[in-house]
Amino acid sequence: MSRIVHLSDIHLRGREGKEYHNALALFRHINAQHAGDTVVITGDLCDDGRLNQIKALNELLTTHLTDVYTLLAPGNHDYALWGNLLNHDSYRNWHHHLGCPRAPRSVNRLTGPWFQSASEPWEHQALGPCRGVGLFIRDDVNTAFIAVDSADWEDREVLARGLVTPRQSRAVRTLLEHPRLEGFTRVVFLHHHPFIRASLATFTDYPEAWAMELTGATEFMEAVSGRCDLLLFGHRHVAETWEHAYGIPLIAAARKSTSALDGHLYYKSYRVEDHTVIQEMHQAPVR
Ligand SMILES: [Fe+2]
Ligand SMILES: [Fe+2]
Repeated sequence: MSRIVHLSDIHLRGREGKEYHNALALFRHINAQHAGDTVVITGDLCDDGRLNQIKALNELLTTHLTDVYTLLAPGNHDYALWGNLLNHDSYRNWHHHLGCPRAPRSVNRLTGPWFQSASEPWEHQALGPCRGVGLFIRDDVNTAFIAVDSADWEDREVLARGLVTPRQSRAVRTLLEHPRLEGFTRVVFLHHHPFIRASLATFTDYPEAWAMELTGATEFMEAVSGRCDLLLFGHRHVAETWEHAYGIPLIAAARKSTSALDGHLYYKSYRVEDHTVIQEMHQAPVR
């Protein structure tokens, strides 16, 4: 039985601080407890994408997540507004050091930047290289993972907003409908919340929505609705789940994974059986 461990919003500031120590404790725990499972990290891995943060992150992933398959999607703190305003190198830093999915034992290790590539030749024929969409297939556990870069690499949006282009949404739909993935569990993941909009209706419980929402969310949700088993994201640092919404068995948002509660770090895992998603809560001790 293979699980999908969901982490998000590490917000690493370098080799120091609570985020670093909590990430270290969390990664060590997950590596020991979830050997062979897939770990999906949905963005904001760094706090502003400076080189010391990217290097610290790369070292943590490479050294401590050795026995799991780790997949990343970037978030706005990795190279959108904060990274680009404070450090123009953040996008280049990410793709130089983290361009490939961290897949130490992957059956489909990629050799190029994950957002421009695909794991097998047929995907290029089916899709052509689509910037900002990555596909990772684990034939051993019959699961396909589609990563979507919503971190707005050209900085078209402001503040913490994200962007999924129409081309990305079309690519996601094409992959989800491709015969190669028939019978596979399909997991889609990105950083931004893809269906809460800034409006008067949401203002009372989500006043910051206008600065955080995802441009292109409607087209993206149309692409994934009824076509995947599990949709994962982070960004708001609030854990939430939606069952059977948008024709998807389970949609889940993760909290900030490096934020401890009562001396423990909490995270969830998912496994899919007969298109039913079973979720579990786990805890790791802060050391
Ligand atoms: Fe975040
Ligand atoms: Fe974010």
